[in-house]
Amino acid sequence: MQNQVKFQSRKVTGDGRGKLLGFPTINLIIPDQFNLEYGIYAVWIWLDAEKYPGALHYGPVPTFDKVTVTLEVFVLTEAELLNERVVAAAITIETVKKLRDVKKFDTAEALIVQMTADVAAARQLLTQ
Ligand SMILES: Cc1cc2nc3c(=O)[nH]c(=O)nc-3n(C[C@H](O)[C@H](O)[C@H](O)COP(=O)(O)O)c2cc1C
Repeated sequence: MQNQVKFQSRKVTGDGRGKLLGFPTINLIIPDQFNLEYGIYAVWIWLDAEKYPGALHYGPVPTFDKVTVTLEVFVLTEAELLNERVVAAAITIETVKKLRDVKKFDTAEALIVQMTADVAAARQLLTQ
């Protein structure tokens, strides 16, 4: 298991819950032989030749009792715009730092508080 990887992927359709939580993510196909440790990471995202800072979730989604593993990124800048563009683009992601393990939160509100902190931590790491 690794916590530093660089990989290519493409977008898949998620459950659509991210938008409701205020963090619309791009859900990604998990590459073959992917061996990243489950967790939340600060990442760089390349869409074609452009590079954006992001926060990545890899693992189950225990807060919503989902055992299926998802790989998703939240783009820290221009999230709405990028979600639309990304349909056609090839996506490359490089992990920079693992921020924490995936956790089960008692409420969606508690998860939102934590995601807000994750995004702030990723932003500080990547754009300072
Ligand atoms: C930065 C970040 C951190 C996350 N941390 C957790 C977590 O600790 N526990 C969890 O159950 N889900 C976590 N998630 C996943 C969200 O629950 C997920 O994005 C949301 O349910 C939307 O999923 P969907 O796009 O499939 O609709 C995280 C997502 C992001 C972007």
